[in-house]
Amino acid sequence: MSTNTWRRQLQDFAGTSTSRLVRDDVFDFFAGHVDPLWTRRRLLVEVLALHPVGGEMLSLHLRSHHRLDQTAAGRHIELCAVIDGVRVCRSYTPLFIGERELEIGIKKIAHGRFSSWIHEQLRVGDHLEIQQIYGEPPLRTLAATQTPALIAGGSGMTLAMAMLYDFAERQPTQKVRLLQYARTAFDLVYLDELAALQQRLPQLQVFFALTQDQDVSTPLHGHFDREHWQALALPDDSPVLVCGPARLIDGVREVLRQFGHRGELYVEAYHRELQSAPEGATVTVRVQEHAITSTTQQLLLERLEAAGLKPAYGCRQGICMSCTCRKTQGRVQNALDGSISEEGEEDIRLCISRPLTDIDLSL
Ligand code: FES
Repeated sequence: MSTNTWRRQLQDFAGTSTSRLVRDDVFDFFAGHVDPLWTRRRLLVEVLALHPVGGEMLSLHLRSHHRLDQTAAGRHIELCAVIDGVRVCRSYTPLFIGERELEIGIKKIAHGRFSSWIHEQLRVGDHLEIQQIYGEPPLRTLAATQTPALIAGGSGMTLAMAMLYDFAERQPTQKVRLLQYARTAFDLVYLDELAALQQRLPQLQVFFALTQDQDVSTPLHGHFDREHWQALALPDDSPVLVCGPARLIDGVREVLRQFGHRGELYVEAYHRELQSAPEGATVTVRVQEHAITSTTQQLLLERLEAAGLKPAYGCRQGICMSCTCRKTQGRVQNALDGSISEEGEEDIRLCISRPLTDIDLSL
């Protein structure tokens, strides 16, 4: 029997036979000193490989000693790490989830604490933690005769790749068009992987568009427009999945509207666009025994963290609901759509809420 098999059997034994005798947190504390992956409450994954896949995207190949939930492609997971003593989580779309392995692409975001740490500090053999899986998988109701279009830019390419791997696995005869946006040819990602996918998914057609470069090898230039849509030559009932920054999403919405496109449009935004904040008055945020001064322009999650509190959070984009807490008094503004809440009790998401008046929160 190999060392790895012994190791796994020991781990399974430790995880099951002691479960009625030892509390989970106690087990995790002592077992973690023997092997960081021996844990009951947390799902830890080990970094098996790190490799750049173009632009500023890094691919993480991760291994779990526990069976993973092989959920439908296109859902999100929260990945967590302890950075300078603080646990930080961000949400990503895995390209692939196997029984015990998964792959995640992480684009380096300017001033992004988590993505910068991943790119600069993470090493093979390190461990990360996986939190909840959330979101609805797109394109699940696709008819065999339909030809979907995946239009993606930036981090949105991870969702497009996840969908392509899923097609290659489940329905390799699927016709599909991918249009990838990048600023320059250098910023294009997953080129080798796309070439390999075309072997497994022969009816995949790949298009590239550069928004800031006139590279002659790439026929499409500038942001999404009528010409780009016509280049895809799709039937007018094709489902369209657009994933990326708001400008790309707005462009696709507008062009499809102009063409009277009848197919369904699935949208996945990868960068939140915040509405402008109201004039900066000073208010008080009361949380348990704390009274924290804030301006009306600050997001509550960021303000509470700056004050030393540790509210739960996940995506920090208003998607995952991890930061939801009860407001018992006062008004807040939703920074995504600009709407203003009522005075009274309601649940709010800290990551996208700004206080407009003095407010009371219950974490
Ligand atoms: S952290 Fe995900 S909704 Fe606020």
